[in-house]
Amino acid sequence: MVKAVIFDLDGVLVTTDELHFKAWQKLAAELGITGFTKEDNIRQRGVSRMESLEVVLEKTDRKFTEEEKLALAEKKNDVYVKSLGGLSRADVLPGVFEFIAYIKSKGIKAAVGSASKNTPLILEKTELADKFDAVSCGLDTTRSKPDPEVFLIAAEKLGISPADCVVIEDSAAGIEAAKRGGMKSIAVGAAEHDKNADVSVESLGSLYKAMEMLGL
Ligand code: BG6
Ligand code: MG
Repeated sequence: MVKAVIFDLDGVLVTTDELHFKAWQKLAAELGITGFTKEDNIRQRGVSRMESLEVVLEKTDRKFTEEEKLALAEKKNDVYVKSLGGLSRADVLPGVFEFIAYIKSKGIKAAVGSASKNTPLILEKTELADKFDAVSCGLDTTRSKPDPEVFLIAAEKLGISPADCVVIEDSAAGIEAAKRGGMKSIAVGAAEHDKNADVSVESLGSLYKAMEMLGL
């Protein structure tokens, strides 16, 4: 039985996945890295800031100390947070508000499960903050996706068993995390056709059908 939906944030609720990409691209360029592409960015989805940095650093032979890596991650985050300045309700992906209202009308709870430490800021700016019964994010966790921790914390905050939760994700790491956590999953966008997902959809417009397939 589906009692809760746990939404990933970047690339599922909000278009911020593009802003992450642009900020990493800027850092890569500053490091003299030319071949940082969208394909590399797909591997950054769902994983922590420091793990995302490693995807960029794979592209150079230069070696960095832990301290230097922390400074690079902070530099990227400064650029990223600045780019969130103009973020508003208009940056919420099409159909999100309607889909949340729909699941709530069915008595299903809604939560966020994101690796991002900027989750509270983004939810505030996009007017999504009061739409969720629970928020679990990079500020709550010690392990990042594909570890299920972020989703298990969301389920615990909701007081709902993992088996009754459906995760909606745009990353391979997130789909695997849902599976490891004993939750069902719907893959969207960049994660479409992920073999670990229970259902796969191209865009949020198809979520209603996906939920039906999962027994809503
Ligand atoms: C995830 C993104 O939602 O958050 C990753 O998909 C990102 O690409 C991660 O690295 C951490 O985000 P932040 O905002 O804490 O740097
Ligand atoms: Mg995502």
